[in-house]
Amino acid sequence: MIERIEPLLKEIENVVISTSEELESYRLKYLSKKGIISQLFEEFKELPGDQKRDVGKPLNVLKSQAEGIYSAKKEELESSSSVGMEGVDVSLPVYLQQPGGYHPLKIVENRLIDIFYSLGFDLSDGPEIEDDWHNFGALNFSEDHPARDMQDTFFIGENVLRTHTSSVQIREMEKNSPPFRLIMPGRVYRNEAVSSRSNCFFHQIEGLYVDEGVTFADLKQTLYYFVQQFFGQGTEVRFRSSYFPFTEPSAEMDIWVGTDTEDNKRLTKGTGWLEVLGCGMVHPNVLESCNIDSKKFSGYAFGIGMDRITMLKYGINDIRDLFHNDLRLLRQFQGE
Ligand code: PHE
Repeated sequence: MIERIEPLLKEIENVVISTSEELESYRLKYLSKKGIISQLFEEFKELPGDQKRDVGKPLNVLKSQAEGIYSAKKEELESSSSVGMEGVDVSLPVYLQQPGGYHPLKIVENRLIDIFYSLGFDLSDGPEIEDDWHNFGALNFSEDHPARDMQDTFFIGENVLRTHTSSVQIREMEKNSPPFRLIMPGRVYRNEAVSSRSNCFFHQIEGLYVDEGVTFADLKQTLYYFVQQFFGQGTEVRFRSSYFPFTEPSAEMDIWVGTDTEDNKRLTKGTGWLEVLGCGMVHPNVLESCNIDSKKFSGYAFGIGMDRITMLKYGINDIRDLFHNDLRLLRQFQGE
């Protein structure tokens, strides 16, 4: 009898079981009441006592080995067939644990777009890597004009990283003919010393309105409307005369934020007034650079610093905080 146990042990170890049918025939063949192993146990009972001693141990090994293979294969088949999908309806909606939110700069940009849409402005944009003509030349900066120093520039070979969104004015006016009523948001770059108030890149939204008979009064009224909508009714503004090569006359506009808190004092260098934009009447040379008849058409342009007003609106004290992608800051804007 002992010589039949050895080969059986080999046989069960090499048996291939890859379906539940194969598992069941394995069980019937070796482990069921009429199976081979039970028969061996029947025969074992009939053996004389001295043989029992020699056969008992290998027979028990065979049995437990056969049972072990059976339960291991059974478990394997069950877990691969269900893959945890039983009772799961894959068509149900997913519950997102962490819904995303807009970056505060994007919230402000969207709000500005809404405000200017309501005045009939359309949206446009242009490339961040610009040529000298679109960033400077066509905007009435001659080759050696000292105003180029106002915008400390990053160069990429012949090209520049645009220092302002005014380049998009030129791209639009070269392509199309008046009237223009556009806003053009985007990122701009300057080689500035990085601090809590200035960064080597920031964001502007450019505005351009060109038509017959556009005046400075139109410009003031539009900007006044924007301030009341964005900062709230009754917000005070002031215009200071300024200089840009591409506008004449030129101005900068400040809003009154007061000196009540230390933060406001710091933000306004103690004056209570915060500069939010540059603006002016489009210089005739700029119109002519784009083949627009400056005798017939006039227009205004403005460039709003979006980082500034985002910081003011949300009480963010350091411009660099906008770009660290720190979730502790960004999560505060979820759902806005
Ligand atoms: N481009 C100017 C700047 O970045 C702002 C500006 C835009 C001024 C349009 C006048 C008209 O400083």
